[in-house]
Amino acid sequence: MNEKPLILVTGANGQLGMELSELAVTFPQFNFYFTDKSTFPVQDKQAVMTWFIQHKPAYCINCAAYTAVDKAEEPGEIAAAFAVNADAPGYLAAAAAAIKARLIHISTDYVFDGKSDKPYKETDATNPQGVYALSKLKGEEAALQHSRDTIVIRTSWLYGAKGQNFVNTMIRLMQEKDAIGVVNDQFGSPTYAADLARAILQIIQHTESDRQVEGGIFHFCNSGITNWYGFAVLIRDIKQLSCEINPIPTSGFPTRAKRPQYSVLDTDKINRIFGIRPASWEDALRRCIAKH
Ligand SMILES: NC(=O)c1ccc[n+]([C@@H]2O[C@H](COP(=O)([O-])OP(=O)(O)OC[C@H]3O[C@@H](n4cnc5c(N)ncnc54)[C@H](OP(=O)(O)O)[C@@H]3O)[C@@H](O)[C@H]2O)c1
Repeated sequence: MNEKPLILVTGANGQLGMELSELAVTFPQFNFYFTDKSTFPVQDKQAVMTWFIQHKPAYCINCAAYTAVDKAEEPGEIAAAFAVNADAPGYLAAAAAAIKARLIHISTDYVFDGKSDKPYKETDATNPQGVYALSKLKGEEAALQHSRDTIVIRTSWLYGAKGQNFVNTMIRLMQEKDAIGVVNDQFGSPTYAADLARAILQIIQHTESDRQVEGGIFHFCNSGITNWYGFAVLIRDIKQLSCEINPIPTSGFPTRAKRPQYSVLDTDKINRIFGIRPASWEDALRRCIAKH
């Protein structure tokens, strides 16, 4: 009897990794191996190659990342951000290529500068604005270098039921304060990590039935566009909280790292190639908050 394909998940204690572990039971045709920073440090080049050769995964979903966008701007943090976000995807890609496994690597809308006024396509020019963004772009390049099978999925404004994210931060602040200010001049598409996790497993299912399907870059986010203020208002309304929310410009909430003003991703390609049609961000947010 053939063994089930093994899927290695790195960074499994993060938002996306946790959603993948929850969803794994509904994909019994695969074996999963969930790892975190202590059991599978992705920046250890030799250990990564050794593990792949010994265990022969069919897929690796790389959820490991240095995601502290503002902290990454500190001079002492740059090397750490690049080790995980830029170098490690290359080690995983090389190890995957050595045993003909497929790497699925996750990247970000922050590779764009945000000067567009229409959704970004996979082929649009990148122009990262900070250390985290540049490290992620270098990671995409490293991941794609070793095999035409590698799939890079860029996503945006990611949140899940658990973990430190905008949704959970807003709920906490709105419970503590009578009024808050939220930025209303940065536009994007919030993405529920559970929807991204499902999309990734659907892609793997698809590639199992069509092994010739070519890799490359794909965009995935929930559909529709909002700004952080609009996002916060819907969170408040779903949670039935009474906090006053005031729209403020980016200049009223300075951060170390510059964010793109507009980072909506065009998801036509993932729909065309894999038949994945993302749910609206409003529907996704309701499903996420229902799990709180
Ligand atoms: N969050 C967003 O808004 C957003 C937006 C667009 C794209 N993305 C991308 O989406 C992906 C998933 O993001 P996420 O929100 O799930 O991130 P997350 O919650 O920060 O999870 C990342 C995980 O990687 C782990 N990790 C860090 N260094 C590692 C290492 N050297 N080896 C193994 N694991 C390591 C982290 O552990 P520790 O916590 O212990 O460090 C954490 O558990 C990332 O590639 C991210 O860049 C995120």
